[in-house]
Amino acid sequence: MFQENVQVLWNKKVGPSFYTLGLTCNRGYADAVPGQFIMLRIPDQKEPLLRRPFSIHRLIYDGGHLKGIEILYKVVGECTKRYSELMEGHRVDLMGPLGNGFSVLTNVHHIYIAAGGIGVAPLIFLVQFFKKKGLDLSACDVFLGGRSKEEVLCKDEFMRHGTKIYITTDDGSEGEKGLVTDPLEAGMIQKPPDIIYACGPPAMLKSVARIAESNKVPCQVSIETVMACGMGACLGCAVEGKKDSGKYRHACIDGPVFDAADLKI
Ligand SMILES: Cc1cc2nc3c(=O)[nH]c(=O)nc-3n(C[C@H](O)[C@H](O)[C@H](O)COP(=O)(O)OP(=O)(O)OC[C@H]3O[C@@H](n4cnc5c(N)ncnc54)[C@H](O)[C@@H]3O)c2cc1C
Ligand code: FES
Repeated sequence: MFQENVQVLWNKKVGPSFYTLGLTCNRGYADAVPGQFIMLRIPDQKEPLLRRPFSIHRLIYDGGHLKGIEILYKVVGECTKRYSELMEGHRVDLMGPLGNGFSVLTNVHHIYIAAGGIGVAPLIFLVQFFKKKGLDLSACDVFLGGRSKEEVLCKDEFMRHGTKIYITTDDGSEGEKGLVTDPLEAGMIQKPPDIIYACGPPAMLKSVARIAESNKVPCQVSIETVMACGMGACLGCAVEGKKDSGKYRHACIDGPVFDAADLKI
């Protein structure tokens, strides 16, 4: 884990309230795995004082060398609003890579990836990682859901990687009208995948976990909790485990990626 003062490479608006932020980083990030996150803070940020957690969206390479990391973020409150005003050359405080990411199982061929809204953020890195491992991405089905078409992010990038894409929106403005779990559940009847990877709002993850369990398909979910320290010190990110009732896990050090079967979600 590194804590460093890094430079903003870019801060691009990619949707009504979505941005990508490119940051320089330590070479050690070359060993980061998808699902790991960083904690970000603007050095003169007084209120709110605490860093904010963001998934690593992608590693940025230049001529084969790691140049930085990119995060994809949605403006929801005070910090993210301030991040949206950052410009190339500004400096920020970066801490990471943190947490446990997705594990890529061996003998996995047919993969489902499910993303709800900004939950897509760590899943581009996951596909980038699969590609590096030589996985056949045409056997990877990606389910992207959002409230409306503005919230359906990264579809061109998934397509460029050769994955199959299924889009749903709550209002029907893009793809099928409905929930992202609708085509996912329908796909299960035809040919269940070897594994499901998912990130999105709690209700979506709950539904994906239920579908996975009833079809006996392993499922890894990346969860979002409120995090103050990101390092196991404040105990503010506790989530309830399923197997030993009463046993809490901490999203920042035990997760944020968990086997869905291990959590009470
Ligand atoms: C491991 C992890 C990875 C994350 N990755 C990303 C990412 O890649 N991109 C991204 O846009 N966001 C991500 N988030 C959420 C992000 O951390 C919050 O959106 C951010 O902290 C909000 O800060 P703020 O000061 O702008 O908003 P605040 O003023 O703190 O909050 C504004 C509103 O957002 C809600 N909110 C705050 N934090 C969260 C949260 N963690 N989950 C859900 N709602 C929240 C609050 O309840 C409030 O309603 C991640 C969170 C975690 C725990
Ligand atoms: S955020 Fe502090 S213990 Fe997890």
